[in-house]
Amino acid sequence: MNIGISAEIFRSYQKLDEFKAQPHLNHDRLMLSRNSGNSLLNRIGGKLDNMLERRDRRTKHRTPILMAAVILTLSFAIPGGFCEDLKVNRALDERVKKFLEDRKGTWHDWNVPYSDGKVLYDLIVQNKYTRAVDIGTSTGLSAIWMAWALSRTGGRLITIEIDEGRYRRALANFKAAGLSEYIDARLADAHDLVEELEGPFDFVFSDADKDWYKNYFKALAPKLEVGGCFTAHNVLNTGMGGIKEFLDYVSGLPNFKTTIDTTSRAGISISCKISEN
Ligand SMILES: C[S@@+](CC[C@H](N)C(=O)[O-])C[C@H]1O[C@@H](n2cnc3c(N)ncnc32)[C@H](O)[C@@H]1O
Repeated sequence: MNIGISAEIFRSYQKLDEFKAQPHLNHDRLMLSRNSGNSLLNRIGGKLDNMLERRDRRTKHRTPILMAAVILTLSFAIPGGFCEDLKVNRALDERVKKFLEDRKGTWHDWNVPYSDGKVLYDLIVQNKYTRAVDIGTSTGLSAIWMAWALSRTGGRLITIEIDEGRYRRALANFKAAGLSEYIDARLADAHDLVEELEGPFDFVFSDADKDWYKNYFKALAPKLEVGGCFTAHNVLNTGMGGIKEFLDYVSGLPNFKTTIDTTSRAGISISCKISEN
C-alpha cells in the first residue's frame, strides 16, 4: 500500500468519526474519494453513504413532525394565536373604548374600577366564556366590560338589578356603548331570580349584597360548567358582612379552586369549577 492511499484511508476514518460525532455536518463536506480503486477506501465510503442515507431519511420524517409540534405548541402558548376563533368587530371595539374613555371619572354608583373591569374582560376572553351572569348591575359598568368580552367570544350576559333607577340608566349606557344586543338586563331581586335562572353558565360576577354571596354561589354552582368560574367583588374587605363566610365556604370545596386577584384593590375572588363533585 503506498503512502498516498494510507493517508487517504486515515483521512477517511477521521471523516467517519467526525460524521458520527457531528451528524448535522453537511453531506458534501464528508465526501470521500471512493474511486481510488482501494477496496478498504471503497468500504469506508459505502459505510458513510449508508449512514448519510439513514440520516437523510430520519431528517425527512422528523422535520415535518418537529414543525407540527412547534406550531401546535405556539397555538396554545400565544393567546389568540393560531387557534384564534375570537370575533373581531373593530367598529364596536372603537365605540366601546371611546364610551369608556369619555366616561372615565363619571361613575358614582359603586361601579367597579376600570382595572377590575379589565380583569373580568380578560377572564372571559382568555377562557372563551360565553354564558355569563352579572349580579348587581347598578348603572352597568361591570356589565359593559363583560358584554364587550362576550361580543368577542360570541356569548351573552344576563345582568340583574333591583333598583329601577339604576336599571334604567344601565339600559341607556348599554345602548350608548353599542352593547345592548349582548345583554339581557333584568329588573329583579337577585335572591329570587338567581334560583330560577336556567343554566348552564360558565362565568358569574357577584357584586350585589355581600351577605348573600354564599347563597348566590350555592344557587349557581350546580349550574356552572366544569372549567367555569364564579367571581366575587370586594373580597379583600373581610369586614363586610358575609365576605368571610363566603370565602371560607368556597375555599373548603374540593371541586372548586379559589384564588384571589389582588391586582384589584377591592379583591376579586375567582372560584373555578374543576369537577362536578
Ligand atoms: C356594587 S353595585 C354593582 C356595581 C356594578 N357591578 C358595576 O360595576 O357597575 C351593587 C348593586 O347591586 C344591587 N343589588 C343589591 N341587592 C340586590 C338584589 N337582591 N338583587 C338585585 N340587585 C341587587 C344594588 O342595587 C346595586 O346597584
